[in-house]
Amino acid sequence: MSMLKRRGIIFPAFSIHGGIAGLFDYGPVGGRLLRKVQQQWREHWLSKGNIVEIDSPTITPETVLQASGHVSAFNDHASECNSCSAIFRSDHLVEEYQQNPDSLSGTQLDTILAENGISCPSCNKSDWAESRPMNLMFGTKIGATRGGRQAYMRPETAQGMFLTFPMIQRHFRNRLPYGAIQIGKGYRNEISPRQGMIRQREFNMAELEYFIDPNADASHDFSKWNEIDFQLIPDPIDGEQKPINIDIGTALTKNIVRHPTVAMFMAETFDFLIKIGADPSRIRFRQHESDEMAHYASDCWDLEMHGSYGWIECVGIAHRGCYDLGAHEEATGTKELRAWRDFDEPIEVDKEVVSAIGSVVGPAFRQQAGQVSQALSELETIPTAFPFDLDLNDGNVVSIDDSMVEVVRIQETIRGEWYLPHVVEPAFGLDRIIWHLLDHGYEMTSKEGEEYLILHLSESVAPYEVVVLPLFEKDGMGKIAKELQCKLLAINGIGVYYDGTRSIGRRYARADEIGVPWAITVDYESMADGTVTVRRRDDQSQIRISTDDLIHHLQSGSLASVF
Ligand code: ATP
Ligand code: GLY
Repeated sequence: MSMLKRRGIIFPAFSIHGGIAGLFDYGPVGGRLLRKVQQQWREHWLSKGNIVEIDSPTITPETVLQASGHVSAFNDHASECNSCSAIFRSDHLVEEYQQNPDSLSGTQLDTILAENGISCPSCNKSDWAESRPMNLMFGTKIGATRGGRQAYMRPETAQGMFLTFPMIQRHFRNRLPYGAIQIGKGYRNEISPRQGMIRQREFNMAELEYFIDPNADASHDFSKWNEIDFQLIPDPIDGEQKPINIDIGTALTKNIVRHPTVAMFMAETFDFLIKIGADPSRIRFRQHESDEMAHYASDCWDLEMHGSYGWIECVGIAHRGCYDLGAHEEATGTKELRAWRDFDEPIEVDKEVVSAIGSVVGPAFRQQAGQVSQALSELETIPTAFPFDLDLNDGNVVSIDDSMVEVVRIQETIRGEWYLPHVVEPAFGLDRIIWHLLDHGYEMTSKEGEEYLILHLSESVAPYEVVVLPLFEKDGMGKIAKELQCKLLAINGIGVYYDGTRSIGRRYARADEIGVPWAITVDYESMADGTVTVRRRDDQSQIRISTDDLIHHLQSGSLASVF
């Protein structure tokens, strides 16, 4: 953390005002790292061809989150120490004594705390107040009318994809499967955010909602991953969660992973993390037990990464079924959240429908008669009680008595049906992923008897690809180095900075510490023949090339090809 702060990567926000736990700033270097991870993530999914990106508001009206279940169910239990008043998440306090404690009730948590004499991490006393559920959402009000309209800062970006489903559906001309991604902030009033970047109150989410027809063939070609054994920790066998190493295709065949689309996203998520430089041996998937799953999920795997906090969930891959679309349909009455599926063969059905008797409806409703007949033909159930009110869908309601209608039998050809798509969701916490990239890339070595830090970040996310260093700023070397920086900056997508202060050794060290893969040095020879040295961060080897070659290699992707 001290290196992250010193080098402008990430640091506690509002610190000169005393700071607030769980809120962080990304600095000049960290901001670039975050943007690059976001960009890699975006490209990873958009390149699939049937995935689009959307962007929705972070302020969300209460009705939306009531429908989604967050108002009633997005809770954690809090335990307060009677002795020092420190507050902790109850399930975290009992973790050592109980597997999957976040599924326990308040009473169960209190019992485990008492029976095991669990002490307060702050004052070491063991005197707990009764635990209480706490909703994790930050409330706010919309508007200036008295009291305003109750709203919350979104706890996940996912609701945005569900509510824009009609637009996404039209975009893809109703051809499932398709998905939508969103990158943005999520807000959770975490009870005790004590693990640095791991548990924040405002954090960077990146979520994909993938809509599928539950009746369609979801089989997928897993041959690309045949040779890779994933570390899986499936749902407990005999009460114990035992890790296994298995390729994803076999895990699916053995029904360890229960759905091909979930398996596909597990594998794709693994690929993404490798692409941005995570250590594959420090990635595993853990399946949720049925009582541990979020209120909407029917199968869920956490991708966990290993680092200085042990194994930490960084991505949740959940089969949400039709929970969300169904919940919003029920809350609003809309039918726009459904997709259409054609039957293999049209079905002929014999059915009873209500039909207007023209000779009665005509004189009774005159110019409205056509509308009344239409509304009667659209009734989904045959009315049994008369008179009844008929809604004409234009704000008018008319009364219908039994002399106006008859029930007739008709033959109808039904070619398909409207249904609620199912959703598979990989939900990424980008800050936790970034923490683990930093952790996996961090190498403390020594040089000339002093500690020497190298951050081995993948070129795909390194905040800067290149640093340009004049050996000295005097004798025109500074000017040439600055000109070179400008030329390199003109190459699409390349991040280049110039560093001319202090010794060249110190400047290499600073660049290594923030993970710059390539250092370009302009020296006396450069002045004479236009060549520069290229130094590789990972082994500190150097090569001399012309500036034209340097530009050429960078334009074609990487300086790795020079060595
Ligand atoms: P946890 O059990 O650690 O609280 P969660 O199960 O509530 O996490 P999800 O609701 O599945 O997490 O959220 C999706 C992803 O968002 C997580 O995998 C994680 O990477 C990230 N995330 C969740 N809460 C936080 C937080 N407070 N700070 C940073 N990242 C978070
Ligand atoms: N969208 C998944 C989650 O926030 O839990």
